[in-house]
Amino acid sequence: MANIVIDRIRKSFGAFQALKEVSLTINDGEFVSLLGPSGCGKTTLLRIIAGLETATSGDVRIGDKSVIGLPPKDRGLAMVFQNYAVFPHMTVYENVAFGLRMQKADDARVKAQVEKAAGLLHIEQYLDRYPNKLSGGQRQRVAVARALAVEPKVLLMDEPLSNLDALLRLEMRTELKTVLQSAGTTTIYVTHDQTEAMGLSDRIAVMHGGVVEQVGHPVQIYNHPATRFVGGFIGNPPMNFIKVPVTNSHVAAGAEQLAAPQGSGNEVILGLRGEAVELAPLPQGLEMRVRVAEPMGSHLLLTGSIHDQPVRVILPASETVKSGDTIGLKLDQKRITWLSPESGKSFPAVLA
Ligand SMILES: Nc1ncnc2c1ncn2[C@@H]1O[C@H](COP(=O)(O)OP(=O)(O)O)[C@@H](O)[C@H]1O
Ligand SMILES: [Mg+2]
Repeated sequence: MANIVIDRIRKSFGAFQALKEVSLTINDGEFVSLLGPSGCGKTTLLRIIAGLETATSGDVRIGDKSVIGLPPKDRGLAMVFQNYAVFPHMTVYENVAFGLRMQKADDARVKAQVEKAAGLLHIEQYLDRYPNKLSGGQRQRVAVARALAVEPKVLLMDEPLSNLDALLRLEMRTELKTVLQSAGTTTIYVTHDQTEAMGLSDRIAVMHGGVVEQVGHPVQIYNHPATRFVGGFIGNPPMNFIKVPVTNSHVAAGAEQLAAPQGSGNEVILGLRGEAVELAPLPQGLEMRVRVAEPMGSHLLLTGSIHDQPVRVILPASETVKSGDTIGLKLDQKRITWLSPESGKSFPAVLA
């Protein structure tokens, strides 16, 4: 049982600030993802929590105790990395047992824990095999089982699924969620894959350029991104950003007048999720020129422009819009995010 407090962590490599001032609290038993593009500082932060890297300043507390200065093995955590380092010269059994052997656990405990972890990850039937006789997905399960076998208070994972092919990744994602939920392990999960973070996490911390831009429940972050970066990074297609003029505190969307947020100037950015629209006749609807219409089976994806700015929207699969059409859209006002063109930050939601 352990919560983790990351308290104003900074990390510089020479003159380069990899982490600017990161604070984040992960509750006991919670699954939190660190999500962001390559180079934003995710691995550096995870390595500082693990004790593999020293912070320039700031504190890390696990279970309310500062772990700064403690070696990794005394921090009560286990790790799984992208290059799941299973030992080729050891059987699956011995791989899973590895952490327990390091702890000098007796044979009875080793056996009980290996069987339990192997059961959770469905690798019982491979315990006598060597890793070279396993598929990538099976090897990945061995790495996770090895981490769970020591019953860590905290599990740290760095892009553990990124070496797997897409189908296997999806399957492992679902399994990981099931396993970790039942184990109740406090987990920090590093990924650049927003669907993975959305699917797995109790909360997501979105990182960008060495800072955490937003922390929240996946749906909250999706619907109410705090910044343009977050809205653009989360969601497929990403949020649309359309710069629109403000006249008498209102923004025209076709014939409809939308209340502009308080504090906006002559222009504001209308942040629109691709699915927060429906077809409407012109001129009542907001005009969109459709460059490409792609029937995806489950939905219809339209790429084109509104006010000469690129947008992607999603309509039900039953709609019959074609490439080259000009259509009208009614916007779901409750789902609009207004952002400042200057700061890129969102305004507080306008109350209807
Ligand atoms: N040991 C190091 N020396 C110098 N720069 C580093 C070192 N480790 C990481 N960096 C830099 O810090 C930034 C963050 O790296 P990293 O935490 O690995 O990013 P992420 O895991 O989000 O892709 C990158 O610009 C990287 O080049
Ligand atoms: Mg990394």
